[in-house]
Amino acid sequence: MRFPSNFGWGAATSAYQIEGAAKEDGRGESIWDTFSRTPGRTRNGDTGDVAVDHYHRWSEDLDLMRDLGLHSYRFSVSWPRIQPDGTGEPNQRGLDFYRRLIDGLHDRGIEPMVTLFHWDLPQSLQDVGGWENRDTAYRFGDYAAAVFHGLGDQVPVWLTVNEPKTVVQNGYLQGHHAPGCQDPDAAYLVAHHLQLAHGLAVRALRAGGSAARIGPALNLHPCYPADDTPAAASAARLYDGYENRLYLDSILKGAYPEDVLADLGDGSRMAQGIADGDLEIIATPVDLLAVQYYTPYYVTADGAKAPRWPTSQADWQQIHPDGMYDILTRVTRDYGPVPITITENGLPCPDVLGPDGAVDDAGRIAFLRDHFTAAHRAIADGVPLESYHVWSLLDNFEWAEGYDQRWGLVYVDYATQLRVLKRSAHWYREVIRDNGL
Ligand code: FCB
Repeated sequence: MRFPSNFGWGAATSAYQIEGAAKEDGRGESIWDTFSRTPGRTRNGDTGDVAVDHYHRWSEDLDLMRDLGLHSYRFSVSWPRIQPDGTGEPNQRGLDFYRRLIDGLHDRGIEPMVTLFHWDLPQSLQDVGGWENRDTAYRFGDYAAAVFHGLGDQVPVWLTVNEPKTVVQNGYLQGHHAPGCQDPDAAYLVAHHLQLAHGLAVRALRAGGSAARIGPALNLHPCYPADDTPAAASAARLYDGYENRLYLDSILKGAYPEDVLADLGDGSRMAQGIADGDLEIIATPVDLLAVQYYTPYYVTADGAKAPRWPTSQADWQQIHPDGMYDILTRVTRDYGPVPITITENGLPCPDVLGPDGAVDDAGRIAFLRDHFTAAHRAIADGVPLESYHVWSLLDNFEWAEGYDQRWGLVYVDYATQLRVLKRSAHWYREVIRDNGL
């Protein structure tokens, strides 16, 4: 099985999950600093204060990427490193760190793919309402412009907001992510402001005359009816609206899905918060769509989730590679042939460093093999899929799960910061070398 000759193989990380150096070089505080330092919020009270110390070990980490043969590395810029309080003149030392990283990638022949926002909102902006405050979207547009100005000449692909839906659902519905709210009415207003922020960033890039490409990074979940009843079919349809179409339709069709708007009601804070012209901003044309796929959902007639496939260590993840095929082909069918990159897909495993110095993560290899196969099938069936980034390059801070879940191709011994390529990393190197399986 061979992939197209220009297919890009990569790996992904995000700033708060790997960098550490929480107080260095003028970095401000983010909502994840606040949240993770609040007792009871993360497993074992873990924080990203040190994480995998990538802020200091970036050069060694780039060497690992070169050793794997990666074509592309997707990482995120920490907003509070660039604007410690979320507004104003950029902090040069913050920009310098990413400049060194980007130069180091180019030196090693690896293309940078840069996410502007992977959940680490400056705490100062949270203090004035965070994503519930419409102004935060405009602050994000300004921040994006500062990053484009500081780093843009060396970055071919930008991603705007990582998984707005996870902010909405985990941060504002369930509350197990920062900022830890449980407020459905606020949640969908936040969704709208995140979409607006996305559009403002796209406009900021275009306004600067950049030739770089830009798009959103959406975690998409195929939603299937749990049984054959019409009631389950219609419940799954609405579920799909909340999981997928809310984000896809607004960006790629310039309208929020009617069924979701009707379900939320005219009086909802979201409905009230949509101003004239917002959807034109949100639907500013993008160059590519970044898809993150982890799991399908099966929905019962009463709108509940009914898991069907074995789960991983992450209880929300059912292992179902065909779901990736289904969501990729569906996006191409429903939204036209917009170029797609997979920016996240992966599996947590109970990895241990053996006495022989090896980490045998056979489960991860099987998972990736099956998902690469599904992606290959999607390409054969006409999906313009151009690259694939495994989540994650390194074991890292998995949000509320702290350091308990290991998602990396590279094992990190957190006590010593030693990096060890897992068996999956050696295997992935061969996939990349052969451009296939
Ligand atoms: C995604 C996040 C990423 C990581 C993986 C496991 O939802 O974008 O940061 O936590 O899940």
